[in-house]
Amino acid sequence: MRQTVAAGNWKMNKTPSEAKALIAELAPLVKDAKNKVIVCPTAVCLPAVVEAAKGTNILVGAQNMYFEDKGAYTGEISADMLLDLGVTHVILGHSERRQYFAETDETVNKKVLKALEKGLCPIICVGESLEQREQGITADLVRMQVKIALQNVSADQAKTVIIAYEPIWAIGTGKTATTQQAEEVCKTIRDCICELYSCDVAESVIIQYGGSVNAANSAELFAQANIDGGLVGGASLKAADFSVIANS
Ligand code: 13P
Repeated sequence: MRQTVAAGNWKMNKTPSEAKALIAELAPLVKDAKNKVIVCPTAVCLPAVVEAAKGTNILVGAQNMYFEDKGAYTGEISADMLLDLGVTHVILGHSERRQYFAETDETVNKKVLKALEKGLCPIICVGESLEQREQGITADLVRMQVKIALQNVSADQAKTVIIAYEPIWAIGTGKTATTQQAEEVCKTIRDCICELYSCDVAESVIIQYGGSVNAANSAELFAQANIDGGLVGGASLKAADFSVIANS
């Protein structure tokens, strides 16, 4: 049985003090959560959040990292730096990074390989734009994103990754994909992994849905056969809402 995972992508929100306060509010609400709980604050908030989450069941992820070990890469953060802090997960290839910061399927693949080599669990984001959905290429596009992200990833490593299906048109718009749309693409992703590796690997991979997940729709989404939780933006900034999602 796969574990359901509720991950909060805080994006560029919360100062370190605010982040600490949010963990203090959230921790008691999710202490018995059914789902694995991960929060992903900005890089500058990571030390405060790791500290605040100590002794709780909240795991901490980063929103990005670079694929080189170290060196002259101004502004970037390495896997070792994250690990040294106590970070366990890292979101890679979020559509906002692809759109505003020129991430490509190839850089996402390099980052996935580095994260796995170092022992960080990547949360790999894929998903189509509204235009691509209307062109009828959602399945092809998402399959391509998954295949490139997993180039040179071994079957044993592939079992451990988390993939988040996030249709771009559903992010921050309040326009959630229907349960059927979300389940259909998550199943497409699982079938793709079955073809790439084996159905055994595909059955192990956690596939989340993301895009306007909230306290009112999470239970139905997470109940789908191929949806193993959610990557949550806006609603993860409110302890009360995120705790409902974490318990869905
Ligand atoms: P929202 O939940 O705010 O739509 O954001 C989703 C998202 O991008 C999570 O990574």
